[in-house]
Amino acid sequence: MRAIQASFPATRLRRTRQSAGIRALVAENTLTPEDLIWPLFVREGEGVEEPVPSMPGVVRRSVDKVVQAAREAHALGIPAICLFPYTSAANRTADCAEAWNPDNLSNRATRAIKEAVPDIAIMTDVALDPYSDTGHDGFVVDGKIVNDETVEALVKQALSQAEAGVDIIGPSDMMDGRIAALRAALETAGHKDVLLLSYAAKYASAFYGPFRDAVGAADALKGDKKTYQMDPANSDEALRTVARDLAEGADMVMVKPGMPYLDICRRVKDAYGAPTYAYQVSGEYAMIMAAAQNGWIDGDKAMLESLMCFKRAGCDGILTYFAPQAARALG
Ligand code: PBG
Repeated sequence: MRAIQASFPATRLRRTRQSAGIRALVAENTLTPEDLIWPLFVREGEGVEEPVPSMPGVVRRSVDKVVQAAREAHALGIPAICLFPYTSAANRTADCAEAWNPDNLSNRATRAIKEAVPDIAIMTDVALDPYSDTGHDGFVVDGKIVNDETVEALVKQALSQAEAGVDIIGPSDMMDGRIAALRAALETAGHKDVLLLSYAAKYASAFYGPFRDAVGAADALKGDKKTYQMDPANSDEALRTVARDLAEGADMVMVKPGMPYLDICRRVKDAYGAPTYAYQVSGEYAMIMAAAQNGWIDGDKAMLESLMCFKRAGCDGILTYFAPQAARALG
């Protein structure tokens, strides 16, 4: 596109900025609660809301409280929530069997929400880290993450989630070949309408720190996830992983983290035109909240600005811990 414009004073670009009404008329992007997916942490118990210290305002909820949060999200116009289990230590094992237990925390929460708030879409995470004693997303054999054995386990995990009634499955593990395997297994098992939102361009990032506290994986994790998550130096590689996942049957794709990776969002959207999402991750949330709590920035304004920027970068929606606050601020 080549903009055509007269020279000053015929063109005064400030004319279109002179009032709220005119600014709204020329706004190129909009942000609404319908753009948001709210990640929720689930824990055992009843009536429990346990604060996550590194994420001020975020809590781990027992299933009954997660149901309540789903109701609240629905009332606010948020179309989807995403569940992350805080698994008890006894259920973190080398074989990760709890991941496909039909009665695990995530599946119990899914059934309870489906029953109480059938119209909200439920997304779940496919990866072994909440269930493994190593904190890794895949099985570790002789110090290495083994790809193909992990994919077999991810298929079992995803099928148990589909059986429980989730609408959207989000593989966040970054193993090769998992989208094809998951899609084939879902089709065979009759779960033809279950969506796959692939964490396609997921980077090995320091910004996941508070999340690992929230799900209790921080202590177990030794080393890093660089042999499966992407190098922040790379951008062309993101186009290759997204292309691969779309070709294997992903319905939607995600870029993660969000704010430092807006260039990736734009490239992915421009290249493929697929439904594209960004995950404004725990560390991004923590940074905005910490600065706001210190009175260094206006938290609400920074939140809304950051979310609008995802839309401008080409995202169709954003996973964000700010979802309910943002929906309220948007009125
Ligand atoms: C794990 C997973 C992670 C996040 C979502 N799923 C952490 C990781 O890869 O270590 C991060 C989310 C956040 O930081 O908010 N499969």
